[in-house]
Amino acid sequence: MSTRWTPQSWRDFPAKHMPADYPDMAAVARAEGELRRQPPLVFAGEARRLTELLGTVAQGKAFLLQGGDCAESFKEFSADNIRDLFRLILQMAVVLTFAGGQPVVKVGRLAGQFAKPRSSPLENIDGVELPSYRGDIINAMEFDPASRTPDPERLLKAYHQASSTLNLLRAFAGGGYADLYNVHRWTLGFVADSPQGARYRELADKIGETLDFMSAIGLTPDKQPEIHRVEVFTSHEALLLNYEEALTRVDSATGDWYDTSAHMLWIGERTRQLDGAHVEYARGVKNPIGVKVGPTVEPDDLIRLIDALNPQNLPGRLTLIGRYGSDRIAERFPRLAALTAREGRSVVWSIDPMHGNTLTAAGYKTRPFDRILSEVKSFIEIARSECVHPGGVHLEMTGQNVTECIGGAHALSENELSARYHTHCDPRLNADQALELAFLLAEKLKAERVAPRQAAAG
Ligand code: PEP
Ligand code: CO
Repeated sequence: MSTRWTPQSWRDFPAKHMPADYPDMAAVARAEGELRRQPPLVFAGEARRLTELLGTVAQGKAFLLQGGDCAESFKEFSADNIRDLFRLILQMAVVLTFAGGQPVVKVGRLAGQFAKPRSSPLENIDGVELPSYRGDIINAMEFDPASRTPDPERLLKAYHQASSTLNLLRAFAGGGYADLYNVHRWTLGFVADSPQGARYRELADKIGETLDFMSAIGLTPDKQPEIHRVEVFTSHEALLLNYEEALTRVDSATGDWYDTSAHMLWIGERTRQLDGAHVEYARGVKNPIGVKVGPTVEPDDLIRLIDALNPQNLPGRLTLIGRYGSDRIAERFPRLAALTAREGRSVVWSIDPMHGNTLTAAGYKTRPFDRILSEVKSFIEIARSECVHPGGVHLEMTGQNVTECIGGAHALSENELSARYHTHCDPRLNADQALELAFLLAEKLKAERVAPRQAAAG
């Protein structure tokens, strides 16, 4: 791994989970060339800003909220879907900031989250075998030979969808929608009638009163730009490396390389091999990088990964995203948390309570809400006892009223899964479930923060 890095040096390393079955490789090269001519989606300065914010998370002063679809799709692309995810992120951030007492760094899994690693390269339905669906940036979900054949035109379509998604996101973030004075208006239609909706309204009332109180004593919160806009960042799994390479550009201010396809990129559980193409690619770009850390990671593996990806130990550069499963976290996470604390590695520890808690019920891939919650709670408790900051959550969620995860306050049952099961890959929390999780998380963070102080005082 000490060889010279270039945006294409990953091509000399084994690359898992990338399609090798394009019928026309010359057409792939043409699409990559076209992508190289497209403008960057994000700027280096924005990626540096996110590194700085994640640095505050690494120091225990803030919390990372990262979430969105498992896989974005061409079909589900609409202004309403983007707005609904955006306002869900805003609502959750308000809950975590106000009830949890910490600033929240907001990162969407969107504007580029298209490519998926699959457990098998082939799918067999009733004796017919076809290539697996790999995400809309590669092929289509319909089960017929033409749809499942990788199509390089999809690289450009995904880029352009990411570009319009980001454009709308920037407008929402800075154009008045995210103004804290609008905190009441962010409530999503179907959540409004639920217990979470009522809890949220109560909290929004308190925020409104606080703003009024500040004005009354002459603090003029309305003059603070931070009240009227939010910073929201984009992220996706850096899986399809030819897409990432084509959007990798030199920052003229620093001479450093940045992947301009998103502010933050992460390496998935199935592609984090130390001698693999994905780690090789990620080590050379200066964006904040995440790595999924699943149940098979041993302490030695983790240290080598940290050394490869963050050799200078820069706070905010590296986020470790644990994903063990509610039944395995207690066995796997403590020694890794203890290790980063003992070795003084400045990392953000976040938890993905989705990918280790998937099961099949009534013929659908689903996730029980109580297992998701249980893994999050264990994460906070273990982090505290090993003296690392429980720094964030990484969620698959949507602002839509889908029926994909079972449980939650509405006790969604297995039989209800078929009603609105829309995901293109893994089951997502719906807005109600995600908001419920945010409230429970805020309570847990607060309780765990207060407890050590009380213990010290007693
Ligand atoms: C994902 O985040 O969608 C994913 C595939 O997760 P993991 O890499 O943890 O399996
Ligand atoms: Co997923």
